[in-house]
Amino acid sequence: MPPIVKDLGELTGALLVFGGPYSNLQATEALFAKAEQLNIPATNIICTGDVVAYCGDPGGTTDLIQKSGIHVIKGNVEISLAEGAGDCGCGFEEDSACDLLSVQWFNQAVKEVSADQIEWKAALPDSLQFNFAGQRFEVVHGARTEVSRFVFASQDHAPLLEDMANRAVDVTLAGHNGIPYTKCLGSKVWHNAGVIGMPANEGQPHCWFSLIKEQSDGSIEFSHHKLSYDFNTAAATMRKKGYPEPYAQALSNGLWPSLDVLPEVEKLMTGRPLSDQVRSQLLLPLQQKAA
Ligand SMILES: [Fe+2]
Repeated sequence: MPPIVKDLGELTGALLVFGGPYSNLQATEALFAKAEQLNIPATNIICTGDVVAYCGDPGGTTDLIQKSGIHVIKGNVEISLAEGAGDCGCGFEEDSACDLLSVQWFNQAVKEVSADQIEWKAALPDSLQFNFAGQRFEVVHGARTEVSRFVFASQDHAPLLEDMANRAVDVTLAGHNGIPYTKCLGSKVWHNAGVIGMPANEGQPHCWFSLIKEQSDGSIEFSHHKLSYDFNTAAATMRKKGYPEPYAQALSNGLWPSLDVLPEVEKLMTGRPLSDQVRSQLLLPLQQKAA
């Protein structure tokens, strides 16, 4: 089936972007409370996919996101659920810790989402495009041509940026990888908002979302923000329902149970706060397009 690309036209005002709710109802509730506090409407909120994953309330989280009216694209988990697949489709190495644990949570999540919810997931777009502050934005899950591709800050982005340039895309908003970052190369920006359903392997329980704002000088600010939420209740829900304990622990101690998917640089950052790294990339003036 060809990918569904949805064009949102022109967006104005502050944008709130987040990834991976991961069946974490408490984090998703906190995200929407934050959006309300910031007075950002649903039409300016974007989720980069994987509504369902590791945590304990796939049905409730899907219901909340579905009713919110925000923009959502398919993650690999939505695709796997819609196709009736046997695992999450993350592409973990066979018999790795991630692979073994994902089978456990995926099998349980399948039982907790309704047929209507799966139908909703199947109809989600694979990517979004829109104009914002004179720039062309594209929203993807992993990468445009590979939904489950892990793209981390330390990796070479040149081929991705070349693909953007070939298609006149200025900014890519990506998800899937769980660690937020913004990379600005020339006039192109690759921005990953991280995920709200699982901490970012910093050794702290908060998660991350992003705000994107046009500045008075025409530049665009990409800022990463911590999301605090009731992780104790989220972990308790997982334990009550028998979801994998290593991920329940991760909600509290902020450390991933496996580093299988991480490049060496990101592995070395385990247990270290991201704040300094992301603060240094707050304001990214884009080069003005030629008139
Ligand atoms: Fe994903």
